[in-house]
Amino acid sequence: MVVCRHFSLCSSRAPITLEFPTLSESPSADIEKPKIPFKIRRAHFDDLAGIQLLLKPFVEQRKLLRRMQAEILLLMSNGYVAEAIDPNGEAKIVGFAAVEIYSRKLGEIQSLAVADTHQGNGIGSALVKACVERAREKGIMEVMAISASEGFLRQLGFDYSLPEQKRALFYQLHSRDEIFKDERPE
Ligand SMILES: CC(C)(COP(=O)(O)OP(=O)(O)OC[C@H]1O[C@@H](n2cnc3c(N)ncnc32)[C@H](O)[C@@H]1OP(=O)(O)O)[C@@H](O)C(=O)NCCC(=O)NCCS
Repeated sequence: MVVCRHFSLCSSRAPITLEFPTLSESPSADIEKPKIPFKIRRAHFDDLAGIQLLLKPFVEQRKLLRRMQAEILLLMSNGYVAEAIDPNGEAKIVGFAAVEIYSRKLGEIQSLAVADTHQGNGIGSALVKACVERAREKGIMEVMAISASEGFLRQLGFDYSLPEQKRALFYQLHSRDEIFKDERPE
């Protein structure tokens, strides 16, 4: 079930620098809301369970599409995780996003999620920037995103490709279940 509003947004051409906050770099304003250190890195196979665990509550809240395991694995090939240290001193996946490459002309930001406990620390922005950079490296012309969080994407340089054409329309040919009928649900 798609819950996000269908906005088709394209990334700006301006180069994007990835900046990840650390405790030592936190400005004084952070006294009110401490920044949580995190690291963004490419997703690898061992991250599958952690990514599924991260996405689960958002799927249950119908903020994200339910994905089959095979879909998540495909996304992970151009995906990034955010890691933070948990109270036991272990690295834990607290964010994920991927760019699905459709063609030289178009990629799409998919399965963007940051754990509730870690939102508001710049992790979502860093994940989107990593995906945009990945697409840029691969020579992709544009990256789109479909999201209810329009303001979030706009402050990252996404905008409507045509001001007068504000919505992307979709024609579904097969259901997700048909396409992935032989796959195990996440
Ligand atoms: C959307 C989401 C990924 C943002 O992650 P985050 O780590 O909290 O984002 P950031 O900390 O990088 O936020 C950057 C800025 O965007 C703003 N922002 C965050 N979520 C926003 C939203 N839903 N709408 C508008 N602005 C938003 C923040 O306030 C922040 O602004 P500031 O720099 O002026 O303080 C996160 O809220 C999330 O996982 N939501 C649930 C899953 C979801 O909706 N995914 C997208 C589905 S299409």
